[in-house]
This record gives sequence, structure tokens and C-alpha cells, in this order.
Amino acid sequence: MTAPLTTRVVPAEFSAIADAAICLANGGLVAFPTETVYGLGADATNGTAVARLFAAKGRPSFNPLIAHVYDLAAARRLAAFDAAAERLAKAFWPGPLTLVLRTSAACPVAELATAGLPSIALRVPSHPVARELLSRLGRPVVAPSANRSGHVSPTTAQHVLADLGGRIDLIVDGGPAAVGVESTIVACLNRPVLLRPGGLPRAEIERVLGMELDDVPASAVDPESPVAPGMLASHYAPRAQLRLRAENVRPGEALLAFGPNLLLGAEHAAMVLNLSPGGDLVEAAANLFSDLRTLDTAGAATIAVMPVPREGLGEAINDRLARAAAPKSD
Ligand code: TXA
Ligand code: MG
Repeated sequence: MTAPLTTRVVPAEFSAIADAAICLANGGLVAFPTETVYGLGADATNGTAVARLFAAKGRPSFNPLIAHVYDLAAARRLAAFDAAAERLAKAFWPGPLTLVLRTSAACPVAELATAGLPSIALRVPSHPVARELLSRLGRPVVAPSANRSGHVSPTTAQHVLADLGGRIDLIVDGGPAAVGVESTIVACLNRPVLLRPGGLPRAEIERVLGMELDDVPASAVDPESPVAPGMLASHYAPRAQLRLRAENVRPGEALLAFGPNLLLGAEHAAMVLNLSPGGDLVEAAANLFSDLRTLDTAGAATIAVMPVPREGLGEAINDRLARAAAPKSD
């Protein structure tokens, strides 16, 4: 990035969404709400806009992006749907599911957006602001989470501004994102494979498919591997160290709690936030990134994190916590 941009933040009214669509059509970068997290959008067919997006995020370019489209008909123009993909799209779109499919020959998405892979990640978001924007633009929009690379995903317009202010053109403020973790990613290339747990629980997907999902092979977690990049271990990292499955709070630590029973030593914590005092995993997912950010600003070197059960959205929550706890790569 050379000269800093002036980043406008506008409430998600009809005229603002129309402006946002024009900005995207002209190659601009627009952050907008989806039901999972805020996305940083660029016209997927405009290679220059996609390059600016990578620059604004500071993201390594081997990490391919999700193309967001208005509906299944638009998705079919970009990729080949096998039987499993058909079923999943019909059951869960619009919603927090991304499908990785074989790219069709006529797909107009810029090579840079798919990092040169023969597959493409597609998603039909359900958030009304995202839908209005996609319908007005009439083109696919690539939208990674609207944070600097290596930071946690934003669930409010304020998070986006804090991370990307001066680096993007526009932020459409549609209030807090409801789901709070990113979409679940399933590759339907051969057997369906779960590439990233997310806002749609695995069990719901398996019920519709009538079979268990394979997990991503360990080799794909290698950032050098072109198979399924984006599983970078430190993708979701706050500045503080995380101490997972903590059973007490050590002096000077901040505490990310879950459920009604606080840990021994909680009264001495630098700051305490509870993902869900009632132990509700949906509420916990919605609070996850924003609580991590707030605790990070408390300045404690370590955040102790209480155990979170692995069922339902708990799988995605534990996945994000493990990534946030991994050693940082940038
Ligand atoms: O909920 C979401 O999915 C949000 C909102 C904004 O829609 N977007 C999001 O995008 O999380 P991003 O770029 O942060 O994550 C995209 C993930 C990355 O892990 C990337 O590697 C993976 O999708 N991905 C994209 N294309 C792929 C492909 N062809 N094969 C395997 N993985 C792919
Ligand atoms: Mg992200």
C-alpha cells in the first residue's frame, strides 16, 4: 500500500449498499457484514482489485479466497457440482457453508483469487446486506475475513476499522455478526472432506449426506502444500499467549471463561470475560473473536481459557482457540 486511503464507515442502508456495489464494480475494497464474520470484499473477476485486497490484508498470496455469490444458479456458472455438493447447497444455502469444487472452464474469477488451484471455494451468504450487495453487483465477490493477516476475525464494523482503517475504501456497518465464527468449509472433489469446521456443525452436514465427513489430511496443513492452504496454524492469533483448558488462573493472567463455574483464582484475573455464562455454544461462538480481542487489550501476557465442550459449534470454537494458541508466523 502506498498512500493511505480514507476509510468511510456507513450504516447498512439501501443507498449505502448501492454505493458499496459501485465501489466494488470500480475495483474498490469494501468490508461488509455476513452472518458469520465481516468480509473484506473485492470484485472476484478483477485481478487488480484482488491484488489490492491481498495487500490490504497483508495476507500470503498462496492462501486462496472464497468467492461469494447470490445464489446456487450463480454458483453453477463457476464450478462443477457433484451429487454431494448439490445436496449440501440445496440444504444449507444461503448460510454458513463454503463448498470447494472443481472450477468450471468458463469461470471468470481471477487466477489470483484461487491461488492458481483447479478448485474454487464458493459460498452463498444469508446476511441480507451481503445478499443485497451481491445482487446489485451481479458478479462474484471474494471476501476473506476483514482483518489483517494473522489477527482474529472481525464481528463488528469497529473491529474492521481498527484493523483495516486507512487500507480499504468502505465499511458497511450492519451491526454485530450473528454466528461469530467463519463458515464451515467442505471440499466435494472426491469424497466430501471437512476442510475447516465452522458455523454449520459437522453433524448437520453428515445428516444431509447420510455419511461421515472425512477430515483434512495432515499433509494439507502444511502451508507450502497447495492441497488446501489456509489451514495455517497461526491464522487466528491475538497478541497474548493462550493457555488452553486451564484449570486455574495464574497471577497476572486474563481469563476467557465458559459456563457458570469460574476457575480458582478468577478473582485475581487481569480481566474476565465469559463466552457464555449459561454454557450455550451458539452464544459462545458469537462472542469468541470479540472477547479474545477485548482480553488482548487488557495487556496480560497470557489468557487462560476454560475448556469448551467439543459438540456442535464447540468443534469450531476449539479449532479457533487451538489456532489462536499456536506459535505466530508473523
Ligand atoms: O465465513 C466465512 O467463510 C468468511 C466470510 C467473510 O464469508 N470468509 C472467510 O474467508 O473466512 P477466509 O479467506 O478468511 O477463509 C477462506 C478459507 C481459507 O482457509 C482458504 O485457504 C480456504 O478457504 N480455501 C479457499 N479456496 C480454497 C480451495 N480451492 N481449496 C481449499 N481451501 C480453500
Ligand atoms: Mg480469516
